[in-house]
Amino acid sequence: MTDFIVELKNVNKTYSTVAGDFPALRNINLSVKTGEFLGVVGKSGAGKSTLLNMINGVDDLTTGEVIIRSGGKQVSVHELDEDALSLWRGQTMGVVYQSIQLLPMLTLVENITLPIDLAGNYKPREARDRALELLKLMELEEHANKLPSFISGGQQQRVAIARALANDPDILVADEPTGSLDSVTADHIFDVFEHLVSDRHKTIIMVTHEMGLASRFSRCLTIADGELVDDSALEKLTVERTIRRRRK
Ligand SMILES: Nc1ncnc2c1ncn2[C@@H]1O[C@H](COP(=O)(O)OP(=O)(O)O)[C@@H](O)[C@H]1O
Ligand SMILES: [Mg+2]
Repeated sequence: MTDFIVELKNVNKTYSTVAGDFPALRNINLSVKTGEFLGVVGKSGAGKSTLLNMINGVDDLTTGEVIIRSGGKQVSVHELDEDALSLWRGQTMGVVYQSIQLLPMLTLVENITLPIDLAGNYKPREARDRALELLKLMELEEHANKLPSFISGGQQQRVAIARALANDPDILVADEPTGSLDSVTADHIFDVFEHLVSDRHKTIIMVTHEMGLASRFSRCLTIADGELVDDSALEKLTVERTIRRRRK
């Protein structure tokens, strides 16, 4: 067994639309080590969300393999059926979205307790203690019994991260989690992610369209038109395109 926690091999995703087939991901090969804080940067429409949906099994790939090694188990995500997939995902992977999707009628602590109760790994009392501990980690414990609408957007995003960690997954995937936040608040989210990687042994994969965030990751890749490129390859491509344009 290799030490890669996430591995994508020749992954292609083609959407069928009325206008014909659209290749959203082309031949993606990606290996992520435990403890990496990997950033994937790309413009809107580049394939970032599609890529994360292949990793967490939310959507089917067209061809290729997605292999996740976590908790002493190796899983081929693309081979799991719906039931096995949702059970596996709940235990293995936390997901954070750009639009914060907390349940408005539940308090912060209840928002986090819910996925713990659903997974059934903890007794009700333990679930509440665990939820409070996660709120403490996010420096939000004093707000535990408030409804989401009574805290700021940045605080809500931190609750969403706490909720993603509810069942102590090894992997966190985040889809533009700082996209709707101001830079100071976004900075705080990065501090939280860095702490999770260095002190809690989490592996984080985050996608964003904000090129300026590249330096915050332990490794950063670029995605363009459904293809992963490392930054040197992208520079070469840009230079070639510029030369071609000048020749015309
Ligand atoms: N369900 C779908 N059906 C058809 N095309 C889709 C679908 N989802 C995404 N796409 C297309 O695939 C490309 C990549 O989308 P997405 O992964 O959402 O990009 P990003 O997250 O980088 O903005 C886009 O051109 C988008 O329009
Ligand atoms: Mg997206």
